[in-house]
Amino acid sequence: MNYSIACPVQFGSGAISQLSNVLGGLGCKHVMFVTDNFVSSQSWYADCKTKLEQANIKVSQYNQCLPDPPDYTIVEIAKQARELMVDGLVAIGGGSVMDAAKGANILINNPGTPADYYFVPPENQKQGFPLVCIPTTAGTGSESTMYSIITDTKNNEKNVLIHPATVAIVDPELTLTAPPSVTANTGMDIFAHSIEAVTAGMRNPYSEALALDSIRRVVKYLPIAVATGSDIEARENLAAASNLAGIAFNSSSTHIGHGIAHVLGVKYHIPHGIGCAMASPETLRWTAEFLPREVKLIGEAMGLTFKGSEDNAEIGKKVADAVLELMAKVGIPPLSKFCKSEEEAVSISGMILADPNVSRCPIPIDLRTIKEIMARIYSAQR
Ligand SMILES: NC(=O)c1ccc[n+]([C@@H]2O[C@H](COP(=O)([O-])OP(=O)(O)OC[C@H]3O[C@@H](n4cnc5c(N)ncnc54)[C@H](O)[C@@H]3O)[C@@H](O)[C@H]2O)c1
Ligand SMILES: [Fe+2]
Repeated sequence: MNYSIACPVQFGSGAISQLSNVLGGLGCKHVMFVTDNFVSSQSWYADCKTKLEQANIKVSQYNQCLPDPPDYTIVEIAKQARELMVDGLVAIGGGSVMDAAKGANILINNPGTPADYYFVPPENQKQGFPLVCIPTTAGTGSESTMYSIITDTKNNEKNVLIHPATVAIVDPELTLTAPPSVTANTGMDIFAHSIEAVTAGMRNPYSEALALDSIRRVVKYLPIAVATGSDIEARENLAAASNLAGIAFNSSSTHIGHGIAHVLGVKYHIPHGIGCAMASPETLRWTAEFLPREVKLIGEAMGLTFKGSEDNAEIGKKVADAVLELMAKVGIPPLSKFCKSEEEAVSISGMILADPNVSRCPIPIDLRTIKEIMARIYSAQR
């Protein structure tokens, strides 16, 4: 077992006001903001730049990040940062933005392309710039994980770079503008991180404690934030849940659910959180066959009660049904909206088996089992 925390976190509403202090502490005099078009159009973003400039920290910007960051974006960010001769990076955005910046930071002082660094541990890379990650979605927890999930555009697959942030600033107020669909999708990503952290092959007591707390918060506050985006208590709890789940799966990893979500993402452009949600009920049903204790703990964190006489299949069904209910409540669309038939859904099973997440399952999984899971995902949500 290996417990770890990727970087220190400053958490709380208004925490973004700490950015100039944090950058000062890191010795930065000229940073590049890495973000996307949406975030760079917000008034708080302009205020943030102004405050840094008042503190004598020069700000440059790259605001062309795209969802599911393509590898060429990572190359562009690193090139621009080198040309501008900045001495620090500030990623402000959802998981796509933070992952793009984390990946680019590898290329700052290391030669080659992103593909040269898939799964290369930080100790085998030269260090990049100080990097501050500031999430604007409550979902990925990327600010507190060492992973950067990028799209390999040559092979049309997701792959993994490893580079943590230096400091994370989690300010729940930045998530207030997320519309109901983004709130729901990203919130279900939190849920998926947590259930997979509790059940992955590398599960451990530290991950379990954080992930179960995260599940309690998501189940209570996600429907509230989807219905009333301005509810700051709900946003604060989801931001905390996202960060805790990130810390949890950073040391336990995710598994089959994320393998499925990644393939659904590259194959049908299903947003990451929706793919994660679709995979979660069947991930739990399968896992309950050999980890009933863990799946029961997840059910209890969701507010379910058990008589104690349930067999493993009953535990799996009860918890899977509760997840389907949560998904319906927050408006997660069914797989049939993106993929024409059950046969087609099953046909991507080979790609799922090849996803790196699959090697982190609690027990080895075979192609036949993945096919069964995909068939059930297709019919479960209609
Ligand atoms: N690094 C990790 O550990 C990790 C973990 C899980 C997922 N991921 C990856 O993260 C990516 C998904 O990130 P995401 O779910 O945060 O979505 P995202 O970053 O792709 O953003 C989705 C959309 O929401 C918009 N958005 C962001 N913040 C907003 C706000 N406050 N208000 C309104 N709109 C806002 C963005 O502009 C974008 O259009 C995927 O590529 C996934 O594979 C990484
Ligand atoms: Fe995820």
